[in-house]
Amino acid sequence: MRRAVCPGSFDPVTNGHLDIIGRASQLFDEVTVAVLVNDTKQGLFDVDERMDMLRVVAADFANVSVDAFHGLLVDFCRDHQIGAIVKGLRAVSDFDYELQMAQMNSSLAAVDTVFVPTSPEYSFLASSLVKEVATYGGDVSRLVPGHVLSRLSERLSERLSERGGTG
Ligand code: PNS
Repeated sequence: MRRAVCPGSFDPVTNGHLDIIGRASQLFDEVTVAVLVNDTKQGLFDVDERMDMLRVVAADFANVSVDAFHGLLVDFCRDHQIGAIVKGLRAVSDFDYELQMAQMNSSLAAVDTVFVPTSPEYSFLASSLVKEVATYGGDVSRLVPGHVLSRLSERLSERLSERGGTG
């Protein structure tokens, strides 16, 4: 059984992530999308919400499941008998840090990293930019799945009303 993990923050999942998850699901028998639990960084969505969104948008991929992890990714891989990490590469600028992480992970454990080039239409896409554009009223409907778009606009309206409705 060839198992892989697609790790990330997924705050929230974008069409770029979904592209990589779908392609990983063709390359491996089982794919776990693993959301990092980062106690030092509060996101727009909590980890359970991110996992819920991932489950909805990845529902068509029969061999993809969603989980969360604390601590080192290699420990999660060991605990789940996962031998490969799948990472999307958007541009050469991603490569330096991704290569460093891949080499560190393979030095810590017998886990290899498979780099999948992001589809060109998503090469500029990042969750942080989606949140920034959506916060200021920009159109992100082509950048995230429809379900995520609804959750994003709900959350941003909640934030706006918490702050007094003027933004
Ligand atoms: O979506 P992100 O925030 O770019 O994902 C980064 C992530 C979660 C893949 C990376 O930070 C990670 O693997 N964190 C787990 C901690 C760990 O294993 N650190 C050592 C990496 S060499």
